[in-house]
Amino acid sequence: METGVRVPVALGSRSYQIVVGSGVLKQVGALCGELLPSRRVMIVTNPVINRLYGTTVSTSLRKAGFQTATIEIPAGERAKSLRQAARLYRAFLHNRMDRRSIVVALGGGVIGDLAGYAAATFLRGVPFVQIPTTLLAQVDSSVGGKVAVDLPEGKNLIGAFYQPSLVVADVETLKSLPPRQMRAGLGEVVKYGMIADRELFGYVETYLDAILRAEEEPLTHLVTRSCAIKAQIVEQDEREEGIRAVLNFGHTVGHALETMAGYHRLLHGEAIAIGMVVATMLSVNRGLCEREDLDRLRTLLTRIGLPTKATGDMKSLVYTIGYDKKVRNRVIYCVLTKGIGHVALAALSDLAELRAAIRAAWSV
Ligand SMILES: NC(=O)c1ccc[n+]([C@@H]2O[C@H](COP(=O)([O-])OP(=O)(O)OC[C@H]3O[C@@H](n4cnc5c(N)ncnc54)[C@H](O)[C@@H]3O)[C@@H](O)[C@H]2O)c1
Repeated sequence: METGVRVPVALGSRSYQIVVGSGVLKQVGALCGELLPSRRVMIVTNPVINRLYGTTVSTSLRKAGFQTATIEIPAGERAKSLRQAARLYRAFLHNRMDRRSIVVALGGGVIGDLAGYAAATFLRGVPFVQIPTTLLAQVDSSVGGKVAVDLPEGKNLIGAFYQPSLVVADVETLKSLPPRQMRAGLGEVVKYGMIADRELFGYVETYLDAILRAEEEPLTHLVTRSCAIKAQIVEQDEREEGIRAVLNFGHTVGHALETMAGYHRLLHGEAIAIGMVVATMLSVNRGLCEREDLDRLRTLLTRIGLPTKATGDMKSLVYTIGYDKKVRNRVIYCVLTKGIGHVALAALSDLAELRAAIRAAWSV
């Protein structure tokens, strides 16, 4: 019997479903069989995730009549490289994949971004299925079609917009997720609350303990709601030419912190948590947002176990922000808030304003 909640992503000929629920991993074969004619599948994963979930996925696919092969890439951000992409292309060729063969990404955002990039470029694009196993990947990176690899010069510099054919998010896989990864993923959920859904923000406040215990019901709600919000935004602006930028709430400072930390020390969700506090402080300073909402944000992030400020050299942080992709003609385009659940796009032309907000946000 089929279980799981379906969230549609309506993008014309590139439309797909996100199937969310507990135990849906076992349905991967049937779900792929419904929509993909090919019988040849390459599962891209890493050794940890393969040991935990590889057999469930490949058994489900085989039962549905697919021929499967698996390739493991090393765990960690460093695997999101052109070198690993080339390894994947060779494995695809070795396994006689053609243009209708399917790439299945089983893992967190690193696997999803890398396998998605390889799927987008191999033979000019083959079908691609996301099976996200981290909270961050379930609520964010597996949806929306951004795929990429890193260069030594920076993260995600080589990539594409390439939508998956299906996303299967099994919240049961989050039970094995290290607590720090779970907390970082929750940072992204809080972001959705801040930009679009005051109720979701309140839900995390109320059910945080159950969420951190990885209980299925609250997690299914969080993932479903977050995916629905992201889908709605991506449907309006698939290639980030306008409104999709609101998903970057907290990223102006967050990205710079990740870059400064050599993108190893801070997890993405941790950097974004710090960035959201600065963005909300900026909004308070501009009179857009009540201080009470800033306090609620800070309290929730602290309860989750996420950082709300960074230590270190503020001067080099502001300098790094100047090199961010979102800076054009010396104006920093950033996302502010008009209170929890409401967003505002803004231009900052005076770095002093940013410096003041960082100072104020970190002085508590
Ligand atoms: N494409 C997008 O739109 C988008 C959005 C946000 C982030 N990203 C990218 O996502 C990446 C970060 O993804 P992430 O946070 O998922 O990290 P990750 O993929 O590195 O996974 C984190 C760690 O958790 C382990 N793991 C994964 N699932 C597990 C499970 N169920 N049980 C036990 N261990 C498990 C992994 O082996 C890894 O060591 C970054 O590269 C970032 O740039 C992409």
